[in-house]
Amino acid sequence: MIDLLKKLREEHQIILHMLDHESDFIKILDFVEKVHHPKEEQELFPGVAHEPWLSHGGPLCTYYRGIQLEFSPIQQVKVKLEKYYADGGPRSDAYAIPSWCTPQNPLSIPMEEHAFGHELSQAIRYLSSQEGSEMYAKYFKIFKQDYEDFLRQHIAKEDGCLFKMCERRGC
Ligand SMILES: [Fe+2]
Ligand SMILES: [Fe+2]
Repeated sequence: MIDLLKKLREEHQIILHMLDHESDFIKILDFVEKVHHPKEEQELFPGVAHEPWLSHGGPLCTYYRGIQLEFSPIQQVKVKLEKYYADGGPRSDAYAIPSWCTPQNPLSIPMEEHAFGHELSQAIRYLSSQEGSEMYAKYFKIFKQDYEDFLRQHIAKEDGCLFKMCERRGC
């Protein structure tokens, strides 16, 4: 699994590089939503989901938990998404949650973040097809920035918490 973690860390760097240099945002969404997150969900998460050490937390878990409790960044975007739906934006299709992902499992946190990223990415995809519309003007730039902010924090959290724990355990 060390090779897998190395590969996933490399993909994080590719995503961060794309955020700084790629002008076509849809290409970033495609890589994250169709390549990177499925790889984590199919190859990493199920392999460690039942490890007892998972609930001990990694070095930066408390820090990120604090940010979540204090600022609830995802919750703030969800409020905006509800306004977008109320304005007529189409709702995203449901995200497949695997059976091991109970609310008690610590991996439900990154899984929930993937589900959130998927929802937000669907809104961005829709808006990108509506360039020139009122909806586009109202939400596209904001959601793009929200997705970028979400992604940077999600990556930092995985690099500093989950992946570090896996590497320490010699996964
Ligand atoms: Fe992830
Ligand atoms: Fe990741």
